[in-house]
Amino acid sequence: MIAHLNGIELAWDDVGAGVPVVFLHGFPLDRTFWKPQLSALIGQARCIAPDLRGFGGTDAAPPYSIDQYADDVAALLDHLGIDRAVIAGLSMGGYIAFALWRRHRDRVRALILADTRATADSAEGLEKRRALLEVARREGSGAVATRQLPALLGATTRERNPDVAEWLHLMMAMQPPAGVAGAIEAMMARPDSTPDLATINVPTLIVVGEEDTLTPPSDAEAMAGAIRGARIEVLSQAGHLAPVERPAAFNHIVAEFVASLVYC
Ligand code: MLT
Repeated sequence: MIAHLNGIELAWDDVGAGVPVVFLHGFPLDRTFWKPQLSALIGQARCIAPDLRGFGGTDAAPPYSIDQYADDVAALLDHLGIDRAVIAGLSMGGYIAFALWRRHRDRVRALILADTRATADSAEGLEKRRALLEVARREGSGAVATRQLPALLGATTRERNPDVAEWLHLMMAMQPPAGVAGAIEAMMARPDSTPDLATINVPTLIVVGEEDTLTPPSDAEAMAGAIRGARIEVLSQAGHLAPVERPAAFNHIVAEFVASLVYC
């Protein structure tokens, strides 16, 4: 589906019925990343997966900010007539989930934070982003995909699941270079969300791949320690893209969490 929201044409999928769950993809991906989740959870939840501005079918010229991505999600909820939704964010999607919490917390029914972290970029991280920005601008999204993908996948997936690697490489290589560059700059400018963690008072599920080297289990444990009542699940044999590396295990945890919300 496509609608004109916040001055852009925003594209999204909306399938199933039940508790609304908004799935926010990571970088540099698009909404098709969540296909294994949408097909598994369709019987239990209303699954909404937007293409963040500059990715997939949502065309928008940079500059962007993480706050702006969050405002787009709030506008989408308005458009769909949904008061509150579970916000599920993977990595960059998690940064956006924190911005939603800061700016639109009355719209957040619960949080699912997958392979993400609350902290801002370190000096070393910013240096790597600048180099990646150059690659995006000079060589395009295919080069970004080739450079990024090995670190996104766990060692087990790299060894045993070339099909998933190929699918993801294609998805990443197809993203508009301007959107990729805009997202890198948005992530560079994002604030530290650590001070917000203690304010989170909705049910929170944190999931991380045991082999995630970008946002490792130690980051997930730090978030879990700071969010009251948060549940943490560490998925073995998965890296930074745990939802597609161990889809059945990830979906089972999410389904159980969403079902538990009727008691909260
Ligand atoms: C992502 O998966 O969204 C990225 O790894 C986030 C980041 O680069 O910080």
